[in-house]
Amino acid sequence: MTTAQRIRSVHDAARARLAEAGVWDVEGDLAALRERFLTEDAPAAVARFEAAVAERCRRIPLGHIVGSVEFDGLELVVGSGVFVPRHESTALVAWAARDTTLPHGGVVLDLCSGVGALGLALARRRPDARVTCVERDDTCLQYLRRNAARNEAVLGPVTVHAADLTTAGCLDAYADGADLVVANPPYVSPDVRLLPEWSEHQPRAAVYSGADGLDLIRRIVVLAAAALRPGGRLALEHDRAQPGQVRELLHGDAFDDVTTFVDTAGEPRITVARRTDQEGTL
Ligand SMILES: C[S@@+](CC[C@H](N)C(=O)[O-])C[C@H]1O[C@@H](n2cnc3c(N)ncnc32)[C@H](O)[C@@H]1O
Repeated sequence: MTTAQRIRSVHDAARARLAEAGVWDVEGDLAALRERFLTEDAPAAVARFEAAVAERCRRIPLGHIVGSVEFDGLELVVGSGVFVPRHESTALVAWAARDTTLPHGGVVLDLCSGVGALGLALARRRPDARVTCVERDDTCLQYLRRNAARNEAVLGPVTVHAADLTTAGCLDAYADGADLVVANPPYVSPDVRLLPEWSEHQPRAAVYSGADGLDLIRRIVVLAAAALRPGGRLALEHDRAQPGQVRELLHGDAFDDVTTFVDTAGEPRITVARRTDQEGTL
């Protein structure tokens, strides 16, 4: 058997195993695993590739196996214990980058920033903005700081703020001072059935939030009302089944101009609202 035939046979066997395991993008995952692990025709490389395929067949997220993910033009390092940013969230970044109400040098808060996807992508697209990423989990914070440092050359100023959003006073430093708040928080309700990549292999605190999934979104609406200046915007990612509930939460005195739009998969998963000039009664 020639080298090319040997590699093809390893490759074909991997394709069949991934398909049988229910992986949804067999060709895309195969290409990523091959590029990362099957770098030469040596038994050690083949063994590493086959071990990686076996992990993917156990539905461990691709990002956790290859160690990085591309997000809106940035390469972000990820690993076990952190949420892998999803391409669908780039729709929120694209909206925020076009937000004409964000002034030059404006203050942006990325709440629940994880490894930094939204905040860092926005800091690349709007290098004039002053972005603060807020996250409570120590593992995420380590990845977030690495990602900010790795991409420093293409980012505007980024600050990392370690804070639990459920604690009192966590954003007091920003009262009435933020121009834009973005968040992709945990929002899944426990009765929603998820693929194993999310239900088993991503941190529960990154996915679920209370009985209806909306506990942290409720909290973020209150925090954003206090942090935003009048006219500032809040942009939230949520489940495709939640636009009505999220819009309801925003229908107090603190926000108006509430709009829901679709993510890159065409699902209604991003809701944006404007901070009114009035004191909030949420
Ligand atoms: C769905 S992940 C999203 C991460 C990132 N925004 C993204 O789009 O990839 C939600 C993040 O919220 C963080 N989180 C959960 N509860 C939090 C809290 N009370 N305070 C701060 N961060 C929290 C989790 O650690 C996790 O990193």
